[in-house]
Amino acid sequence: MHLLVELIFLGALLSAQVFATWTDPSILDACPGYTVSNVVNDGTTLNADLTLAGEGCNVFGTDIPKLSLSVTYETDTRIHLKITDPSSARYEVPESVLPRPDNSSSVPPSSAQIQFNFTESPFSFTIFRTSTSEVLFSTADHALIFESQYLRVKTSLPKDANIYGLGEHTNPFRLPTTNTILTLWSRDAGNVPVGTNLYGNHPVYFEHRTTGTHGVFLLNSNGMDIKVNDTESDDQVTLEYSVIGGVLDFYFLAGSEDDPSAVGRQYAEVVGLPAEVPYWSLGLHQCRFGYNSFIDVADVITNYSAAQIPLETMWTDIDYMDGRRIFTVDPDYFPLNRVREIVDFLHQHDQRYILMTDPAVAFTPDEDYAPFHRGTDLDVWLKLPNGSFSLAIVWPGVTVYPDWFHPDIQAYWSGEFEMFYNPETGIDIDGAWIDMNEPSNFCSLPCTDIFEQAKGLPPTRTAPIPDPNTPIFVNTSNTLIKRVEPTDDLLNPPYEINNAADGRALSAKTAWVNATHANGLVEYDTHNLFGTMMSVATHIAMLARRPGLRTLVITRSTFAGAGRSVGKWLGDNFSSWEMYRQSIAGMLGFASIYQVPMVGSDICGFNENTTETLCARWAMLGGFYPFMRNHNSDTSISQEYYRFPLVAQAARNVLDIRYRLMDYFYTAFHTAHLDGTPILQPLFFKYPKDPSTYRIDLQFLYGPSILVSPVTEENSTSVTIYLPNDIFYDFLTFEKIEGKGANVTLDNVTMTEIPVYIIGGSILATRVEGAMTTTELRQKDFEIVIAPGTDGTAKGSLYVDDGVSIDATVNGTTEVQFSYGDNALTVNGTFGFDLGVSIRRVRLLGASAEVGAKNVSVNGLEGNITSSFDAEKGVVDVEIGAPFDKGFEVIWN
Ligand SMILES: *[C@@H]1O[C@H](CO)[C@@H](O)[C@H](O)[C@H]1NC(C)=O
Ligand SMILES: *[C@@H]1O[C@H](CO)[C@@H](O)[C@H](O)[C@H]1NC(C)=O
Ligand SMILES: *[C@@H]1O[C@H](CO)[C@@H](O)[C@H](O)[C@H]1NC(C)=O
Ligand SMILES: *[C@@H]1O[C@H](CO)[C@@H](O)[C@H](O)[C@H]1NC(C)=O
Ligand SMILES: *[C@@H]1O[C@H](CO)[C@@H](O)[C@H](O)[C@H]1NC(C)=O
Ligand SMILES: *[C@@H]1O[C@H](CO)[C@@H](O)[C@H](O)[C@H]1NC(C)=O
Ligand SMILES: *[C@@H]1O[C@H](CO)[C@@H](O)[C@H](O)[C@H]1NC(C)=O
Ligand SMILES: *[C@@H]1O[C@H](CO)[C@@H](O)[C@H](O)[C@H]1NC(C)=O
Ligand SMILES: *[C@@H]1O[C@H](CO)[C@@H](O)[C@H](O)[C@H]1NC(C)=O
Repeated sequence: MHLLVELIFLGALLSAQVFATWTDPSILDACPGYTVSNVVNDGTTLNADLTLAGEGCNVFGTDIPKLSLSVTYETDTRIHLKITDPSSARYEVPESVLPRPDNSSSVPPSSAQIQFNFTESPFSFTIFRTSTSEVLFSTADHALIFESQYLRVKTSLPKDANIYGLGEHTNPFRLPTTNTILTLWSRDAGNVPVGTNLYGNHPVYFEHRTTGTHGVFLLNSNGMDIKVNDTESDDQVTLEYSVIGGVLDFYFLAGSEDDPSAVGRQYAEVVGLPAEVPYWSLGLHQCRFGYNSFIDVADVITNYSAAQIPLETMWTDIDYMDGRRIFTVDPDYFPLNRVREIVDFLHQHDQRYILMTDPAVAFTPDEDYAPFHRGTDLDVWLKLPNGSFSLAIVWPGVTVYPDWFHPDIQAYWSGEFEMFYNPETGIDIDGAWIDMNEPSNFCSLPCTDIFEQAKGLPPTRTAPIPDPNTPIFVNTSNTLIKRVEPTDDLLNPPYEINNAADGRALSAKTAWVNATHANGLVEYDTHNLFGTMMSVATHIAMLARRPGLRTLVITRSTFAGAGRSVGKWLGDNFSSWEMYRQSIAGMLGFASIYQVPMVGSDICGFNENTTETLCARWAMLGGFYPFMRNHNSDTSISQEYYRFPLVAQAARNVLDIRYRLMDYFYTAFHTAHLDGTPILQPLFFKYPKDPSTYRIDLQFLYGPSILVSPVTEENSTSVTIYLPNDIFYDFLTFEKIEGKGANVTLDNVTMTEIPVYIIGGSILATRVEGAMTTTELRQKDFEIVIAPGTDGTAKGSLYVDDGVSIDATVNGTTEVQFSYGDNALTVNGTFGFDLGVSIRRVRLLGASAEVGAKNVSVNGLEGNITSSFDAEKGVVDVEIGAPFDKGFEVIWN
C-alpha cells in the first residue's frame, strides 16, 4: 500500500514536469487581439462586435474570428461585461444552477460608481472608479485571446496588490503575488496541499487598496488557471485568466471607498444570499470516521454529557452503512432499531443527529439494492456518450453517479431521503452531510478494468460484531478502519490547467469529462458544479422531510452561490499547527468572500494524530468557527474533547464564551442572510485605511464586534497580535486596552485561554451564562454589555426568532437596537417573538470613577434596580431583572 502510494506520487511529479503548460508571455501578448466595430450604446448597455485584428496566433486552437461584446451598467455598483461567440452557442453556467441577478434596474454610466472604457484597436478595456479615476482592471498591453478551448484575459494591478479570494485553496488569505497559480477544478484533495486545486471553485477576488475595495467575478465553471505574478514587470502585478471553455462573463463590483464589507454585499447580489441557519447549528458538533458500531456513537454522547461539555449534534461518517452503500445501515454494527434509539435519545435531550450521504450509488445490477434499481428505473445515472453508465469507484466499490441535470433526479433524491430518513420508520436526521461530491473517483487512469481496481472495496470490517442487545447510554469505549487515495491520466485539452489530481488529466480521480448529462451538457463544462448541484438537491430533499423548518447541509465541494443552500467544511486536513493556522484563512475565504458563511475546518485535525496542546488550542479557535465540528479520521487516535483533561477544560471555557455570544452571532447570520454582510471579517474590513492590517490572517472578527487572536505557535503561551488605533476590552476581565496601531505581545495565555476582545463602540446582548444545549441556552437571561469606543459612544443590535422556522414571522421576530452616548443607553425595537427571559443586568465597561459615582435611573422597566461600580475594573453593573419584552432607557446622571 505504502509503496504503491510512493510510486504514484513519483509518477505525478514526473507528469507535472512533462505536461505543465507554460507559454512565454511575450508570445501571448504578440497575439493580434480584436478590433471593435458596430458600437451600439443605448445609455445603459453597450453592444459591439469584435473582429480578429490580424492573423490568428492559434496558440491552443484556432482564434475565433468574430466575437460579441456586451457591457451593462446593471446597478450603480455593478458592471456586467460579457464576450461570446455569436456564431455558436457556447456553454454557459445554466441559470438553473446559478440564477443571474436582476438587471431590470440598469443605470446610466453617469450615476455609476465604476466606469467601463475601451480602446478600439486592438480592443482593450479598463474599469475605473468614477470618483477617483483610479483604474481597477485593465487589459491594455495584453491581447485578448478567444479560442475554442482557451480564453485568456490579463489585467495589470498595482505592485504588491492586496488580492483575496480565487478559492478554494490553502494559500494565505492575502494571496502571494509572486509566481502564483490558482487552479479551479474540483478535486478530492486529501490533506489539502497548499498551492493546489481543492474541492470547490469560486472565481471571484476582492482587491483592497487604501482608496477602496472592489470585486471581480468571472462567472465560468470550466477548468481554469489564474496566474498572479509580479516578476514580469517592475511596477505591476499581473493577473491572468486561462480558461478552457465557456464564455467570458465578468461582473465588476465597485465595492466602496471606505467599507470593504460593501463588496461582500454586492457579490451576494450576484450569487445569492446565504441560507438562514437553524439556531442549533451554531452548537458543538462531534464526528469521526471510525466509530465502529452504534455502541461507540452512544458512548460518545454519554461521555460528553458526563464531562459536562455541551454537545449539540452527534454525527456519523460512512461507518454506519452496509457495505458503504448510501441509504443503508449495517444490520450487525448499526442495526436500524438501535440507531433509531440513539436518535430518540438525542431528540429527548434537545440534541441532534447528522449522517453522511455520498453521491455515488453502488452499481449492483445483480443484487437486491433498491436505491440502485430505483435510480436505474428512472434512468437518472450519469452516462458516457455511448449511453452506458459512467462508472466510478467510490467507497462501496464500483458505482454510478446521479445526474443532477436529469429531470427526475430531484424526485429520486427526495424519495430516497424520505424513505431512508423517515422519522417513523427510518433515521430522523436533523441535518445532512454530503461528501465525495467533486465527484471523487478512486479509479486510477486509464481505468480500463474498473472491476479489477475495485477489488477490496468495501473493506471487510475487522471489529467484532457487537451484541445487538448491548445496553447503550450507560458506559463503554472506542476503536478503528481507513481512508484511501488513488491516481493517473487522460482527455487533454491543448491548454492543460494545473490540475493537481494524480495523473493531471481532467478526468483524473473524478467522473469522465466526456460523461454526458440528460440535458446534453458534458462534465467537461459542468464538473465544477457537481457538488453545488448535489447541495441544492439535498437541501430540497431535507426541506421536503420537514416542511417549513430550516435544515443544515454541510458539503465538501462548492461553486459560486453554494451558500444559498449549504454550509461547508474545509475538507480532509490533518493534525498540525500549520493546518490550525491555515484554517483561519480558509474560513475567511468562504465567510468573508464567497458568501458561504457556515464554515469551519475539522477541529483538532482529521488525518494523523493530534496532540493534547494542539487539540486544546484548536478547540478554542474552533469555538469561533461558524461551523464548530470536531472530526477525525479512522486511523487517528481519538480526540473527542473529553479525552484529554486540558482539552476538556479548554472546550468548556470556549463553549461558555461561544454560547453566551450565540445570539449576537445569530444576529450576524441573520444580517448576512438579509444583505450579505460577511459574518466573519478580516481586520482590514474594519480598519481599511490601516495597511498593517492587510496581511493579517491569524486574527479575525467574529461578527462585527469581537476580535479573536489565538495563540498560534506550538507550546507557546504568548502571542504577538496587532491592535489598530482603537479601544478594546478583554471579553472576560473587561480590561480596557488602547490599541496603538502596533504589535502587542500577550504573555501567559494558558493552554485553556484564548484572547478575545470586544471592539470599542459595540453593544452586545449576551446570555448571562452558557448551557449544555442551545435549547437550554434560550432559557437563560440576557445581559447588555456596553463597550464605548474612542468617541464615547456605542451601538449594537439583536435579532431573535424561534430559530427553526423558514418563515420566521410564524412565531414572530424580535429586533432590538441598542445605542449609548451622553451617559445614556437607549434600548428599543419590536418584540414580536416572546423571548421568555429577563434582562439580568446592563454592564458598562471602561467607566471612570466619575461615571461610577453617578446615580443610575432606568425608565420604562419595572424591577428592583440596583447599581454597583468596580473601580479596579472600571465596570458599572446595573442589576435589572425585568422581562425583556420592551424598550427602556438607562441614564447615568
Ligand atoms: C477612455 O479611453 C480613451 C482611449 O484610450 C482615452 O482617450 C480616454 O481618456 C479614456 N477616458 C477616460 C475617462 O478614462
Ligand atoms: C512569473 O514570471 C516569471 C518570470 O517572468 C516566470 O518565470 C514564471 O513562470 C511566472 N509564473 C507564472 C505562474 O506565470
Ligand atoms: C469517453 O472517454 C473515455 C475515457 O477516455 C473513452 O474510453 C471513451 O471512448 C470516450 N467516449 C467517447 C464517445 O468519446
Ligand atoms: C497515531 O497513533 C497510533 C496509535 O498510537 C499509531 O498506531 C499511528 O501510527 C499514529 N499515526 C501517525 C500518522 O503517526
Ligand atoms: C513542544 O513540546 C513537546 C513536548 O515537550 C516537544 O516534544 C515538542 O518538540 C515541542 N514543539 C516545539 C515546536 O517546540
Ligand atoms: C507585527 O508583527 C508581524 C509578525 O511578526 C510583522 O510582520 C508586522 O510587520 C508587525 N506589524 C507592525 C505594525 O509592526
Ligand atoms: C503569569 O501568571 C502567573 C500566575 O498568574 C504570574 O505569577 C506570572 O507573573 C505571570 N507571568 C507573566 C510574564 O506575566
Ligand atoms: C413555531 O410555530 C410552529 C407553528 O406554529 C410551532 O409548531 C412551533 O412549536 C413554534 N416554535 C417555537 C420555537 O416557538
Ligand atoms: C429608538 O431609539 C432611537 C435613538 O437611539 C430613537 O431615535 C428612535 O426614535 C427610537 N425608536 C423608538 C420606536 O422608540
